[in-house]
Amino acid sequence: MTTPPVLRIFALSFLLSGPFPGVILAAVPATTPAVFARDGIVASSHGLASEAGAQILRQGGNAVDAAVATGFALAVVLPSAGNIGGGGFMVVHQADGRDTVIDYRETAPAAASRGMYLGTGGKVLSGPDSSTVGWRAAGVPGTVAGLAFALEHYGSGKITWAQAIEPARRLAAEGFVVSGTTEHRLRRAAALLGQFEESKRIYLKGGSGWRAGETFRQPELAATLERLQRAGWREFYEGETARRIAAAMHREGGTITLADLKNYRIAERAPLRGAYRGYTVVTMPPPSSGGIALLQMLGMLEARDVGALRNDPAARAHLFAEVMTRAFRDRAEYLGDPAFVQVPVAQLLDPAYIRARMNSFSPNRATPSASVEPGLGRLPVSPPRESLQTTHFSVVDAAGGAVSNTYTLNGAFGCGATVPGTGILLNNEMDDFMSAPGVPNLFGLIQGESNAITPGKRPLSSMTPTLLLRSGKLFLVTGSPGGPTIINTVLQVVTNTIDLGMPPCAAVAAPRIHHQWMPDRLDYEPGALTPAALAQLRAEGHILAVSADSIGDSETIEVDPATGVRLGASDPRNGDSAAVAQTPVSH
Ligand code: GLY
Repeated sequence: MTTPPVLRIFALSFLLSGPFPGVILAAVPATTPAVFARDGIVASSHGLASEAGAQILRQGGNAVDAAVATGFALAVVLPSAGNIGGGGFMVVHQADGRDTVIDYRETAPAAASRGMYLGTGGKVLSGPDSSTVGWRAAGVPGTVAGLAFALEHYGSGKITWAQAIEPARRLAAEGFVVSGTTEHRLRRAAALLGQFEESKRIYLKGGSGWRAGETFRQPELAATLERLQRAGWREFYEGETARRIAAAMHREGGTITLADLKNYRIAERAPLRGAYRGYTVVTMPPPSSGGIALLQMLGMLEARDVGALRNDPAARAHLFAEVMTRAFRDRAEYLGDPAFVQVPVAQLLDPAYIRARMNSFSPNRATPSASVEPGLGRLPVSPPRESLQTTHFSVVDAAGGAVSNTYTLNGAFGCGATVPGTGILLNNEMDDFMSAPGVPNLFGLIQGESNAITPGKRPLSSMTPTLLLRSGKLFLVTGSPGGPTIINTVLQVVTNTIDLGMPPCAAVAAPRIHHQWMPDRLDYEPGALTPAALAQLRAEGHILAVSADSIGDSETIEVDPATGVRLGASDPRNGDSAAVAQTPVSH
């Protein structure tokens, strides 16, 4: 089986231009063959982590067993986003057709308070005491509890906790070969990681930096994983690991205590379900904004013939930008942790409401962001802040079970601090809360009350792990990293698949666009828009900008409805990503 040529995007870095080099993008035609299987596939942002999951499938594990192994392995081979010191969301589709969501998002520590990131004069702090850098930026990690819950409740029962962790422990103990992509990621983060001795020692090789081709071993992380294997998941929250985290926090002025760790709880939730052109969309509810925004956007598109716009990039980009800006406007106004704020989910997903959102749509005039009103009226709230780093993986097993999992340290390499002697890099998820009302963040998003810091609360997220079903049967497993661009990446993969009939490699690789309401700007990847399309969009009033970095990193698996064959597609934007089949099939 072959797949058609697709446009492959390579990020070319200016490696010699300093610790935070700019990135340019060039569109290069290439062919990226799908990985296909009749049994299981794992697609993740690192081939070694996909292989860890595939090994577990070969040992008789199901999709959840494999996902747990992949999640732990990414914590070793993708330290920028894979983690045990962060949190995330897992959508589980069981082989019998039942779906559930495991929310293992970080929570605000008990000592957190709404003004904790404000300095003199109410100014938002930057630097080591801020919501982005150092010990005070970390929320209570949920990943270990989330993966343990998944394995215990939705695993096959054939794979033990220790077995699921073993591929990761081996990768940490024996090391893995640093790729060019990994070298580049570590180099870009040198200014952050260099501020923390333990991080500098581990991730920057004491300052000299890791080079592609070298073997990167993490003995402290291997020892932590071994403790978890021996003593069980609670060790992270109540045992030696917990004590080390709490001691480092105490020493360094962080807020997480032993009690915070002991009190951490995952939440199991019902997924959001919607429909798009006969497909059922199963996706992430609050505290992610992703599922609601995705279903709103699909609802707005459903009334229009998106397929007919395949050869009209300007009209398609205009329609998508208008849909995006409306959904992001509502997201800004109404979304937060449902345990703390009332999220009007039913109203936001009411088909009549979604249709009415497009009453103001004009086919040839951009709607200025300033004039997009939230559809249910204004609240004294505004949007959350987010960052661009996270990672997604998708798994399908032989029986038709699946996992769509997105988890994160928030920023690349989180807060930059590693707990001494543990190899655990901590998140800076506290930055996903509002630090101060009305203050725009790095991405121009404005902050809101619904997402204010409160002890025990989960910060609002954009992570959008998603499944599509056709006649109740699994069809697509997808998701992406990328802060607010996550939602629009998932939208475009879904519409490329359904409206444009693209096979998964093409659906994932096709250049993307992004609009998030504020700032009023339509970002596009090179190759997404022709010169003529750009001119037309400008004439319609769009403010256009070529994206400074690639948009998203989608790890997607499609199940062919006719044959049941699974097609795995890893995003070509990420040099380390790969789909791995349970049983490799030769072409
Ligand atoms: N930290 C990124 C997100 O949760 O959306």
